[in-house]
Amino acid sequence: MCRTEMIKQAFAKQFGYQAEQVSHAPGRVNLIGDHTDYNLGFVLPAAINFGTDVAIAKRDDNTIRVLAHDLDNQICEFELTDLLFNPDLMWVNYVAGVVYVLQKACFVLQGTDIVISGNVPQGAGLSSSASLQVALIKAFSDLFKLQIDGFTAAKLAQQAENEFVGCNCGIMDQSISAMGAHSHAMLLDCQDLTFQDAPIPENLAIVIVNSNVKRGLVESEYNQRREQCERVAKHFNAPALRAVTLSELESEQVKLSELDYKRAKHVITENQRTLDALDALKANNVSKLGRLMNASHDSLKDDFSTSTAEMDCLVSLIQSQIAEQGGARMTGGGFGGCVVAVMPKALVEAVTQNVKAEYQKQTGLRADVYVCAAVQGAFRA
Ligand code: GLA
Repeated sequence: MCRTEMIKQAFAKQFGYQAEQVSHAPGRVNLIGDHTDYNLGFVLPAAINFGTDVAIAKRDDNTIRVLAHDLDNQICEFELTDLLFNPDLMWVNYVAGVVYVLQKACFVLQGTDIVISGNVPQGAGLSSSASLQVALIKAFSDLFKLQIDGFTAAKLAQQAENEFVGCNCGIMDQSISAMGAHSHAMLLDCQDLTFQDAPIPENLAIVIVNSNVKRGLVESEYNQRREQCERVAKHFNAPALRAVTLSELESEQVKLSELDYKRAKHVITENQRTLDALDALKANNVSKLGRLMNASHDSLKDDFSTSTAEMDCLVSLIQSQIAEQGGARMTGGGFGGCVVAVMPKALVEAVTQNVKAEYQKQTGLRADVYVCAAVQGAFRA
């Protein structure tokens, strides 16, 4: 049974009537450009064929009833007029957060019944939460004819995460979930939200490998990285690190703490690598793209300190096997989760087998491998 049918049935079973519609938003994998978005820099993600579905129908009161199909059918009920952070049921805050920002932006809602189901691995750096929030905004937008466009949806979803859930994330995940294009990655300029679609070459495979180490300390470490970057930008009287060059940073190195310097160095060099990776992708120069991804991993590991021993293990296993034919790096916020690799499709089978066996041998853990397709975002026409 397809996922849409499954969620419609779950809705009918729970609420005793048919859902009016089912909305979908994809998760994402970031090819390169991590921890650059909140520094108003560049990112190069793709929306992936794993996502979140939301089945929804209007009610004629102010009550939201919502069922999390994948979380043992947990159910929660709250009023549109009474939105409180729920410390016990974290997933509910994503729903309440979306309702909160929509109402704050003066969109008129009424009560709804909702079922949520998704297949983005959670806590793996593939944006399961952004895909949930974008899918919810799409659902409310279509149901109540709110006429929200893609980047407005992305900004609302980010605002829900920042103001209601409490993570100071950037705009990348929500933007690509809303606006990704089929078979393309997207170069997004996070300063003004202009973007370019970059076709993924036919012979290129995007392979995600889950270390199966759940991300820990994400919010506190993430918010701390952001503060370090902002402190350096302030040192230069710049609105964000995007405006600071590498030579400017180097000339002020002695006045900065060693950690702040390293954080900023990662961001500034990563912006350039991301622009270079766009050129490499457009030219179908997979070895250049691979070299940039490998350098990105080193920078995240050594200067930004967001990798883990397990991610490093996966990355070096893949890198040594594919050599000049591609590259690998940790992807997303870090502190656990997934690595992403690019390689010719012909290598995928051999790499998959080797990585699974060696990762298990070296860490005692299982590696899950997902060969991804780039899909269309929820709001992309
Ligand atoms: C998380 C955040 C994004 C971005 C990445 C790191 O996924 O939600 O905004 O900062 O980490 O690139």
